[in-house]
Formats: sequence, C-alpha cells, structure tokens
Amino acid sequence: MDDTMYNAILLALLAVSILQFLRPGASRRLRRPPGPRTLPAIGSVHHVVNTLVHRSLRELAAVHGPIMMLKIGPMPLVVVTSRELAREVLKVQDPNFANRPRLLVGGICGYGWTDIIFAPTSDYWRKIRKLCIHEVLSPKRILSFQYIREEEVQRQVEAVRAAGPDTPVNVTRMVYDISSRTISRSSFGEVRPDMAVFQDAIKRVIGLSSGFNVPDLFPRLREVLGEVSGMKRKLREIHRTFDSILVDIIEERRSVRADRLAAGKEVVDENVVDVMLTLQKNDDSLGFPLTDNTIKAVVLDMFAGGTGTSGSSTDWAMSELARNPRVMKKLQDEIRRTFHGKETITEADLRNSDLKYLKLVMKEAIRLHPAAPLLVPRESIDTTELGGYVVPGKSRIVVNAWAISRDPRYWKDPEEFRPERFEEDGAVDFHGLHFEFTPFGAGRRMCPGYNYGLAGMELTLLQLMYHFDWRLPLGVDEVDMEEAMGLGVRRKNPLMLCASPYVPCPAAVA
Ligand code: HEM
Ligand SMILES: *[C@@H]1O[C@H](CO)[C@@H](O)[C@H](O)[C@H]1NC(C)=O
Repeated sequence: MDDTMYNAILLALLAVSILQFLRPGASRRLRRPPGPRTLPAIGSVHHVVNTLVHRSLRELAAVHGPIMMLKIGPMPLVVVTSRELAREVLKVQDPNFANRPRLLVGGICGYGWTDIIFAPTSDYWRKIRKLCIHEVLSPKRILSFQYIREEEVQRQVEAVRAAGPDTPVNVTRMVYDISSRTISRSSFGEVRPDMAVFQDAIKRVIGLSSGFNVPDLFPRLREVLGEVSGMKRKLREIHRTFDSILVDIIEERRSVRADRLAAGKEVVDENVVDVMLTLQKNDDSLGFPLTDNTIKAVVLDMFAGGTGTSGSSTDWAMSELARNPRVMKKLQDEIRRTFHGKETITEADLRNSDLKYLKLVMKEAIRLHPAAPLLVPRESIDTTELGGYVVPGKSRIVVNAWAISRDPRYWKDPEEFRPERFEEDGAVDFHGLHFEFTPFGAGRRMCPGYNYGLAGMELTLLQLMYHFDWRLPLGVDEVDMEEAMGLGVRRKNPLMLCASPYVPCPAAVA
C-alpha cells in the first residue's frame, strides 16, 4: 500500500476515533491519561507515523505531560516520558506491561510468534528466552565468538589503511558490516553469498514491526485488514525469502555434523545453529518442542535484535567522537598509552587492561542515541492505574527512553557529549536499575543481547581509535547528525571520515 493511501485510511480512522472520544461518557473516578484530542491531533498523529517518532512524541509530552494517551483507530497508545513512570512500567508493574502485541509481522515472519522479540508473554516465551540467555547469549558463548569479532574488525582496519589518508572512508558502512558479518558468522558460521538478500529481508521485517501499520491498529480485524491492505502478501513474500535461506543453513549444518559423526570425530558446536541442533537432540528436557522453526526464529531474533542496534550505536559513537575532538583525543590517549607499541590488540589484551574512558564513551553515545528510542512496543494485560490515570488492558505502551535520557530534569547539559558524567557521583548505569537511562529496556523484557552488542562495539571503537587519526574530509566542516525516519535512530546520511594511520613509535615517547 502506498503512503498516500495509507495516510488517507489513517486519517479517516482518526476522524472516527476522535468523534468517539468526544462523545460524552459516564463520569469515572479515575480518568484516562490526557492526550491530543482535538482536531490538531490529526496533525500530531500524522507526525507520529511519518516523522522522527521519538522527537514528535517528546514535543507532545511537553504539552500533555509524562503520561499521555493517543488514540490511533481503536488502539489506545500510552506514551510514558519520565523516569518515575518508566520505573512504574518497566519494574513496579512489569508483569502487567511485559506483554507484546500480536503484530501481523510476528505471526507471519516470527514463525507464529515463537521467536523472543515478538512473542507475547507465556510459559513458552519464558522458556525460550531463558534458553537463549543460557546457551546462546551467555558470557561464555560470547567469549567463544571472540576470534570472529577480531577478524572482522581487523579486516576493516586493513581496508581503512588501504584507502589511504585522503580517501574518505564510509564509516557507516564499515560499522554495519562489522556487526552484520559478526552476527552472521556467529549465527551459522559463514557470510553467505546471499547475505545481502537475507539482510534486506530482515530490514523489511523490522520496518513492518512498528505496530503503526493499519492492520496492527485493529487487532480484531487484523487478518482481514492484513489481506485487503496487501500487508500479508508482502510479509509472506519476505518470509519466503529468508525462510528458504534458513532452511538451507540448517540443512548444511546438519550435514556437517553428520559427516563429522560418520568420520568418528567429535561434534563441536561452532555457532548458534549448531548449539540449537544439539539442544534439539534432547528437547524432552526443555518443556517445549524445539523444532526447526524455533531454530529459525531464534536466528531471526539475533539478526533483527542485534545487527542494526549494534551498528547504529557504533556509528553514532564515531559521529560524536568526530565532532568532539577533546573526547576523541582523551580516548586515544588512554588507548595508545595502554597499548603503546603493539601492532595488533586482541580482546584478551582488552580484558587485561583497564580502559575506563572507553566504557564511559560508549555509555554516553548510547545515552544520546539509544538504538531503540521507544524500546520495543509493549501491551498491557489488565486495566491498571498509572501515574494517577486509568490505562485500559490491551493498550499499546511505549516508553520514550530517548527523551528521558536527554531530559534536563535528570541530566546536566543533556545535549552535550560528555562521557565524564558517568563517573561522577551517583552515576547511573544501563543494567535496568536507573530509569533515566534504559537503552536496553528493563525488567522481564530487557534486552538479553546487550553484552553481545557491547562486545562488538567496544572492540571496534578500540581498534579504530588506536590505529587511526580521524578527520572530516576536505571541504566539510561539520559532522552532519541528521537522523533517518523510522523507529530506530539511525544516521540519515553515511558518516564519511578520512583516516591517517597512527604509527606507534617507541622512540618518540621514551
Ligand atoms: C547496542 C545494541 C543493542 C541495543 C541498544 C538493544 C536494545 C534493545 C531494546 C531496547 C529491547 C527491548 C526491551 C524492552 O522491551 O524493554 C531489546 C530487546 C531484545 N534484544 Fe536487544 N539491543 C541490542 C543488541 C542486541 C543483540 C546483539 C541481540 C542478540 C544477538 C539482541 C536481542 C534482543 C532480543 C531477542 C530482544 C527481545 C527480548 C524480549 O522481548 O524478551 N539485542 N533490545
Ligand atoms: C556508504 O554506505 C552506505 C551503506 O552501505 C551506502 O548506502 C552509501 O551509498 C555509501 N556512501 C558512499 C558515499 O560511499
């Protein structure tokens, strides 16, 4: 469905919902949250759908307050924009708010909502999530992928060196390449020739998972509207594309195992698919059948949850470093002092060092540019009270983590890139305890892959900062920071920088 038609339908729906809103209802003791209700609301929601959602919602919150309700079609969308209410949603009332809406995309592309991201709360979701945390995203497993991260970062370091100091490097492409190739190799052992097709399909899945698509706004009519709007057809096509690739991958890994067994060799779990195939052998103990579709759904989650998020976090960190020479210098000093004279730095070196400033830089980049600014949409289970208002069951809940982590009530000079803020008194962290800083969410739905994502980000920044001095290309005097439209915050235009190799020279420092 093209945008014009989509908007026309949306506007018609809005008009209807606003009329309903204006109908006098029985007076209740507790009111529903405030929100844009009058005619300009059409403009606002129009904004919500077509612009930088996190920014439009912050503007609306400035008018309506830290809790507001937008009606999009029959769907109440509750938006929370304060530390206190984020804590309420993600912690105090987490059991009631940790559900996910059954979006059309999760039904068709998420193997009937059997992946982790799209699955509504259930015993199954708890089990598959736990399984992934223990088997696939555990510190031990992440460590076992160390050589992959090292090789992928090294590969790019060499490419940057080869480009020479005067050819602008496409930093954006480079960091997304690192994260997608790393996820790909750790998921199934290789970067396949059809990787681009696969990645593109995943991107389209994410694009259709905002929950703002017409069929998703009408849960009861979801299937019908999905058909008539053409969205189902589109989703089935995307699903066919990546499913056939996943079928291939699983068959390949199965035959590799069979060959090893036949040759009397031990079967080694080298990647996520291998791990899942081993678990599949004795799935009696899991409490749910671990089918091939479950394996596919888990791999899909790794890509959907892990590629764009890690890529954009590193991309923004590089952008902020490029426009804050003081910070870049301080970071490079720390790294170059520590690894002085070394030709290559491994993750083991990194673990044995104490690069405090690097960690602060990462936090500050993620604070200003959380990859999922509104987290992932949740759905309430029962009617409840939130911030003094009634929130009906089955409401869509969005926490504007982006706005909260730039709120002057909690942050001094919030728009400034100042990593030192994270080592000052009362400094906060992102482990889901400080609700002014929840780039990975919190509670039952908190991102299970953040250590995985941060490991890649850390090694990438470390190497890029150690090996090169970065500057803007000739004729460019400002780092463009424009954000692309969509639910994630990505750069609109690629970050292009020139890199001069830094040659560690022991004589110079002695
Ligand atoms: C810097 C990188 C990352 C960021 C900023 C990020 C952020 C998030 C956020 C905000 C959520 C939603 C939390 C909520 O609903 O409260 C989430 C969920 C999730 N993330 Fe991440 N993530 C990152 C990396 C990764 C990686 C590398 C993986 C896997 C390899 C991953 C897998 C997942 C999964 C499976 C979920 C769904 C959890 C559930 O619904 O139970 N993420 N992530
Ligand atoms: C940089 O990389 C991005 C992402 O691959 C690509 O879309 C863009 O065209 C590239 N830009 C330049 C100038 O190389």
